[in-house]
Amino acid sequence: MKIVTVVGARPQFVKAATVSAALLRHPGAGIEEVLVHTGQHYDENMSQVFFDQLKVPRPKYNLAVGSGSHGAMTGKMLAAVEQILVDEKPDWLLVYGDTNSTLAGALAAAKLHVPVCHVEAGLRSFEKRMPEEVNRILTDHVSELLLCPTHAAITNLQREGLTKGVHHVGDVMYDAALIFAKLAAQSSDVLSRYALTPKSFLLATVHRAENTDDPTRLEGILKALSNLATPSCPLLLPLHPRTSATLKSRGLEPLLARNPALKTIAPVPFLDMIVLEQQAKLILTDSGGVQKEAYFHGVPCVTLRDETEWVETVDAGWNQLAGADHQRIEAAAAAAEPGRVIDEYGDGNAADKVVDLLTARAP
Ligand code: UD1
Repeated sequence: MKIVTVVGARPQFVKAATVSAALLRHPGAGIEEVLVHTGQHYDENMSQVFFDQLKVPRPKYNLAVGSGSHGAMTGKMLAAVEQILVDEKPDWLLVYGDTNSTLAGALAAAKLHVPVCHVEAGLRSFEKRMPEEVNRILTDHVSELLLCPTHAAITNLQREGLTKGVHHVGDVMYDAALIFAKLAAQSSDVLSRYALTPKSFLLATVHRAENTDDPTRLEGILKALSNLATPSCPLLLPLHPRTSATLKSRGLEPLLARNPALKTIAPVPFLDMIVLEQQAKLILTDSGGVQKEAYFHGVPCVTLRDETEWVETVDAGWNQLAGADHQRIEAAAAAAEPGRVIDEYGDGNAADKVVDLLTARAP
């Protein structure tokens, strides 16, 4: 059986690390995985470092698509993946999540009648202005295997009439959190590098287009982060390249520089990120993955968005939606506390379930 897997953005390298390893250890011999990297993320610390640290197999193809408008980026990937599928003739096309790389892979395959397996199917924010929401909906509707991380995702698919090939497998990001936590503890010196004391710092990430492209939202968030950072509890902000570029072009860097307890750094590799997440007192983020990782590591989270696809983290009390208004964010940070156990993400064997379902349905 041959599987072509398309990845392109940082979180997809982490997800692929778990499923690619599960494919390799699957007892059924004869599974070949061909990895395609679209090149959507291309900076060393957004891409290569993830492949190196997490031992993701080397991609056979790198499309080097780089950045661009959504249409141009997705179009270039679509044409290139189509050619690869024609040449490779796989039994499955495997994609993760909701990025432009996900949609391009799924669409190219569907047009060639190559069955699509979507890992992280069924998530919805119900906000179609998010590019990720469009990518998810379209990908789900051309997929044959829809592998859901939560039961809420299954309900979302049912509402859209999708019931065939739908399975709850748990969350491959939970697998990754468990697998790589040990390695992170052994190898990461991130706390000493930034002179951080466990449970006495805040960790923040901001990269969503809805926040970075809207000056009012971005200023509200930066103001909150600056107000929350104190000498006894500093705030660490690893900056996504999109956010750094916006800060420069909008002249917003002084907003961050006015408080020395707020420290911005380059994007960090996954193992460093795990340690930062584990040891933070509180996490503030607009990332989907980081919201959940906060829960995996038992850390309360304030989400810098108005909605979330991971509704169970809010229902269980771990996560608060605070939008981009500085007063709301600061109030949420003050009220943040641990919540209840969430029984949705599986036992750390989601990747094995993905592989079992792929092999069970082999043509
Ligand atoms: C993408 C995904 C988002 C996911 C995120 C993970 C889409 C629509 N969005 O968002 O769902 O949460 O990846 O990180 O696919 N850039 C660089 N170097 C890089 C990568 C990006 O400088 O290696 C800059 C470029 O200016 C680029 C911008 O970041 O235009 C945004 O990158 P892009 O891939 O379009 O979206 P992300 O915000 O990374």
